[in-house]
Amino acid sequence: MKVVVTGGSGFLGSHLCEALLDRGDTVWCLDNYCTGEPVNVLPLLARPGFRLVRTDVTGAFDVPGPVDAVAHLASPASPPDYARLPLQTLSAGSRGTENALRLAVRRGARFLLTSTSEVYGDPAVHPQPEGYWGNVNPVGPRSVYDEAKRYAEALTTAYRTGLGADTGIVRIFNTYGPRMRPHDGRVVSTFIRQALAGTPLTVYGDGSQTRSFCYVDDLVRGLLAMLDSSHAGPVNLGNPAECTVRDLAGLVLRLTGSPAPVEYRPLPVDDPVRRRPDIARARELLGWAPEVALENGVRRTVAWFARGPAGVPDPHGEPVEA
Ligand SMILES: NC(=O)c1ccc[n+]([C@@H]2O[C@H](COP(=O)([O-])OP(=O)(O)OC[C@H]3O[C@@H](n4cnc5c(N)ncnc54)[C@H](O)[C@@H]3O)[C@@H](O)[C@H]2O)c1
Repeated sequence: MKVVVTGGSGFLGSHLCEALLDRGDTVWCLDNYCTGEPVNVLPLLARPGFRLVRTDVTGAFDVPGPVDAVAHLASPASPPDYARLPLQTLSAGSRGTENALRLAVRRGARFLLTSTSEVYGDPAVHPQPEGYWGNVNPVGPRSVYDEAKRYAEALTTAYRTGLGADTGIVRIFNTYGPRMRPHDGRVVSTFIRQALAGTPLTVYGDGSQTRSFCYVDDLVRGLLAMLDSSHAGPVNLGNPAECTVRDLAGLVLRLTGSPAPVEYRPLPVDDPVRRRPDIARARELLGWAPEVALENGVRRTVAWFARGPAGVPDPHGEPVEA
């Protein structure tokens, strides 16, 4: 199978490219490196069947020859990234999604949109099933990302219903693992970086807000299952095990053996209080469920961070917790 992965040199994209190559697929990885890093796919460059192309998917682009599937991941995805790149985030969700959809339609390829749990906003329903329409502030600090993804879902649905395109939508909940950027502002990477540096772990609010954390290998299995299916979705992909941010800080301190203290700061605007996926649909349609327990996944992520990237300085200033 020949698969185009937009945003392929980002955190999730690089793992997806690797998994596709591992099962014998040919991969065209398209990225403009605005939040991803080519180093993520450096080891893949030597592998047969891998092509890396620097391109911005918000402009017209094409890939030669037949294409079997397009996985559209290109978008700034963490709060500091989309705060820094608001217009690019809206463009990636709108123009970028439409360009990727057009490529899929031209080639008769399956199209997969990686949407997000952010479409549920600060949810009034727990856990969140796909039938819940969300509680999103259209002019809040997260709106460029949330609304871009909501538009991308509407566009993908219109291509399916209006043009008969073979499309699928997954809504990804917090995912973590090796190759996260130390300064991406997500809570797992931030805590690990802080713990390894011995600086205070910044907890926003009183830390009682919950998140559900999915290990990247589990998530990639879900992406592949959805890519290989003909389901329209949306399908939630995430780990339903809920954990408070305070407990996560404790786990990271224990696994790193760090003496760093925990420092409490005011809760950012529109920070969701609870997030937890209802994954009944993924279980039923895809036979998918996460397998990696939080402690094991965080241990693997700590080991990866300990080997190097945590010392990299933040190029964009003070990160905010995701
Ligand atoms: N990681 C998560 O927990 C999570 C949760 C929900 C949804 N998602 C979605 O999964 C996708 C990948 O997220 P990630 O965590 O790997 O983020 P990431 O920032 O590591 O990866 C995104 C990639 O897209 C590229 N990109 C952005 N705009 C582009 C453009 N216009 N043209 C070409 N490339 C572009 C970036 O350079 C980067 O390599 C995103 O669409 C994100 O919304 C991720």
